[in-house]
Amino acid sequence: MFKPLLLATAAILMAAAAPVLAQSTSMTPEDQVKAMGPGINVAAGWDPYWDGNPSPFKIGYIKSIKDAGFKTIRIPITTFRHMDKAGQHLDPATFRRLDAIVDAGVKEGLNVIIDEHDYDDCGKDANACGALLPNVWYELSEHYKNAPPSVMFELLNEPHEQIDDKLWNAWIPDLVAIVRETNPTRNIIIGATHWNSKNDLPLLKLPEADRHIIVTFHYYDPFHFTHQGASWAGAEVAALKGVEWKGTKEELAQLDADFDQVAAWGKANNRPIFLGEYGTYGKNNPRMDERAAWTRAVSKAADARGFARAFWYFSEGPVGFTAYNTDKDQWVAPIKDALVGQ
Ligand code: BGC
Repeated sequence: MFKPLLLATAAILMAAAAPVLAQSTSMTPEDQVKAMGPGINVAAGWDPYWDGNPSPFKIGYIKSIKDAGFKTIRIPITTFRHMDKAGQHLDPATFRRLDAIVDAGVKEGLNVIIDEHDYDDCGKDANACGALLPNVWYELSEHYKNAPPSVMFELLNEPHEQIDDKLWNAWIPDLVAIVRETNPTRNIIIGATHWNSKNDLPLLKLPEADRHIIVTFHYYDPFHFTHQGASWAGAEVAALKGVEWKGTKEELAQLDADFDQVAAWGKANNRPIFLGEYGTYGKNNPRMDERAAWTRAVSKAADARGFARAFWYFSEGPVGFTAYNTDKDQWVAPIKDALVGQ
């Protein structure tokens, strides 16, 4: 699916000055982070779309995302269940579905992140994960090796539980080497353990010589505010209701301190930063003004420090982390304004 697009691009670029062509084959991670600006997570692996079933997600939404002012989409794919029995090859239908989103993003001029999101399986069974993940990256790297540099690879969402820092640090060079066989300069996104926690950044060991890496973290603090009512976050959090966030001086100071901590790590380690997920869950939190205020404050905190960012999540029904209501086919205005109306 990429070939026609790339050939067309190459033809246009060849007609222009040669340096443009050179630029188009690689991008520094710093320039890429600048270009990524505001982004949004779409079409997560559990969407019926991935099984070819009717889905609220439509390829046409990629244009709506672009038109709203977003510059990046992050696609959280769950590849493990789409690998063949031998664990070697990704099923062609999954590639076709992924191509459709990636191509639409590239066509709209968006940055596109292919994020391997089998983090739950990996956290529970590191051996099984360790057997599959390298093959997944052989597959994805080969398939997308001719994609433009606006397409990026994220090795694994939120390593946690069995994937501790020792194991993760041991895997990173191998996974990066697999990608580099076919994608020598594509920017790769890597985060730390404990669910891409900022606090684990000092534990993260990256291949020093590889300068095409962007470091990611996720931000859902205060967790009791953002996740109140979330069944997957444990019984205590699932039962929470009415936890407020008012944007007080103290709350904003904490946010600043947290983001300063990440910025300081990025500077000391010379790696640009991408906030890959942030958002609030609506089930037990109907106060849209507070949810939008938190979303705006976090967006601004990222922008102020030159981090790229992607909101969690485009659309998951009326009470989810939703930015777009697919029933009404319209944006949730306060959230959208908090994301792209700065
Ligand atoms: C998970 C989602 C979850 C979100 C917020 C993501 O990484 O994949 O299932 O809703 O984090 O907890």
